[in-house]
Amino acid sequence: MIVLGIETSCDETAVALVADGRKILVNLIASQVEIHRPFGGVVPELASREHLRLLLPLLEESLAKTNLSPSKIDAVAVTRGPGLIGALLVGTSFAKALAYAWQIPLIGVHHLKAHLYASFMEGESPAFPLVGLVVSGGHTAIIHLSSREEGGILGQTRDDAAGEAFDKVASLLSLGYPGGPEIEKISRKGDPRRYDFPRGMLKSGDLDFSFSGLKTAVRYLLQKIPEDERGERSADIAASFQTAVVEVLLFKLKRASLLTGARTIVLGGGVARNQLLREEAHRIFSSPCYRLLIPSPGLCSDNAAMIAGLAFWNLRAARSGPVKMEADPNLPWHGGLG
Ligand code: KG4
Ligand code: ZN
Repeated sequence: MIVLGIETSCDETAVALVADGRKILVNLIASQVEIHRPFGGVVPELASREHLRLLLPLLEESLAKTNLSPSKIDAVAVTRGPGLIGALLVGTSFAKALAYAWQIPLIGVHHLKAHLYASFMEGESPAFPLVGLVVSGGHTAIIHLSSREEGGILGQTRDDAAGEAFDKVASLLSLGYPGGPEIEKISRKGDPRRYDFPRGMLKSGDLDFSFSGLKTAVRYLLQKIPEDERGERSADIAASFQTAVVEVLLFKLKRASLLTGARTIVLGGGVARNQLLREEAHRIFSSPCYRLLIPSPGLCSDNAAMIAGLAFWNLRAARSGPVKMEADPNLPWHGGLG
């Protein structure tokens, strides 16, 4: 069964064709980074317009690259939320039109569920119970799935998302956009122990996060450093910041696993590309009682293969998408991966 996946929840326009939930036939991602770079963040209206401009060419390219005709596509899957409403509307309208024209099922997919499913596209099958950490520019959430059908969000950020914190601190350090990869790069030359930045809500006892205090701490520190010294201290600041974020994320993820008894641990979202986060996760969950799955970097960032993959997985379990499929910028989490 071949599913066409469409993802437009933020600033990546993505189209993929996936066979049987795992075999990625094509996975195209048109990044809008250059468009948003001058603004230092995603401009929602510009993102919507770009999605509109790029979707049809990406679909045509997907069909051409795989040599498939539309008659070979069995279903259309699209991100229905959460995300930017204008961006979601472009993707869902496009998907509805295709499903109607081709007379095939349309499946609306929850973006965060797809990020978790991405861990299961490269070999391993979903196993429950599990705890997952989704860390991106828009989300920081710990999710517990007790079974295929049941689960929920255990904790999330109360202010900035982890990726957003990377982007904002990179901007304070006059690094490029998006900030995550820039912070990671410069951190390799820095001393992660030079600055003891706050670990937000580490001792709070719950599984929520807060990154705004950390960002403010970096800002105050920079204000105290003479301008001509900031350059040479940037690497130490970046490395200390990165370490603080990674420490909090994994501390809470470990706590979630201890509280729930879940031993399958999955990571997803753009920040899961971060090498320190990946290495530390492997160190913390190194005991054989854990099964840690982190998608390869290309499947961590927003992509449409994970959308098509999860849709297939649910179709196979005869859980078709809602008949009335509308975009929802605040789409709540209900149940399991379905
Ligand atoms: O999942 P994603 O591609 O898009 C959404 O936000 O949904 O995540 C993008 C975020 C950005 O904030 C970016 O700075 C961050 O992921 N990011 C990273 C790295 N690569 C991307 N953060 C830390 N280290 C990285 N290597
Ligand atoms: Zn995402």
